[in-house]
Amino acid sequence: MSVLDLSRVGHAYLGRTVLSSIDLTIDKGEIVALVGPSGCGKSTLAHIAAGLIDASEGRITTHYTRHAMIFQEPRLMPWATARTNIAYPLKLARVPRRDRAAMVEAAAQKAHLLPEDLDKYPVELSGGMRQRTAIARALVAGPDFIFYDEPFTALDAALKRRMQDLVIANAAEAGIAGLFITHDLAEAARIADRIAVMHTHGRGILGQRPLPTRPGDRTDEEVFAWVQNALTSDPLFAHIHDVDERAIA
Ligand SMILES: Nc1ncnc2c1ncn2[C@@H]1O[C@H](COP(=O)(O)OP(=O)(O)OP(=O)(O)O)[C@@H](O)[C@H]1O
Ligand SMILES: [Mg+2]
Repeated sequence: MSVLDLSRVGHAYLGRTVLSSIDLTIDKGEIVALVGPSGCGKSTLAHIAAGLIDASEGRITTHYTRHAMIFQEPRLMPWATARTNIAYPLKLARVPRRDRAAMVEAAAQKAHLLPEDLDKYPVELSGGMRQRTAIARALVAGPDFIFYDEPFTALDAALKRRMQDLVIANAAEAGIAGLFITHDLAEAARIADRIAVMHTHGRGILGQRPLPTRPGDRTDEEVFAWVQNALTSDPLFAHIHDVDERAIA
């Protein structure tokens, strides 16, 4: 059964079309990675699918109970501590105050934040800690679907791996499905059940490739081999490392 179904979705910002004819379905417990060059419309699509902005055309059908989003930048409230930031979705969901502390601490632990980090303000946290605070905030209220918009770019290699393992475990053990946007094909090939490639200018999903095994079951060698093969032999991946032409003008 699908938990997210995008049908012929399109979007224009101030009359300029940036997305058109996007069809994408994600099943229960499934992680779909979305890759494509910078500026092709990945974040816009995630914001539309999550209901943060309205699509100009198309239909979005959701069957999940509660979703969360990890934005490309942490988007924390600067005047509130990490603890208060992480607790915010619980406040919105009207979780009783007495239950919140334990839930915040459990989510912070999953995101590898230390207890002493929780009393710091965003300005006192490192970039990686800020992003992990945003990850904890996404997990805290028990979502069954997460939109991940390049969430681990600011993390060092070891932490990135641990966070990828968390995404894999969330899907395998708790059935948390997700749309995972990334520039990194190796990351996509490590954590996803399926990889969807977006057109360079947002004109549809060019194609999708299922990964041959379950995410937690892949060795680094298998992931590396899959990526090498995709980049050298699969025309679908020929343009994913293209850069925004304005960046090199
Ligand atoms: N709020 C906005 N107003 C106007 N145009 C926007 C807005 N947000 C994004 N765009 C434009 O929409 C297009 C898609 O942007 P988007 O941020 O979705 O790309 P992306 O694929 O997420 O890129 P990146 O990989 O760099 O994060 C770009 O041309 C961008 O300039
Ligand atoms: Mg983006």
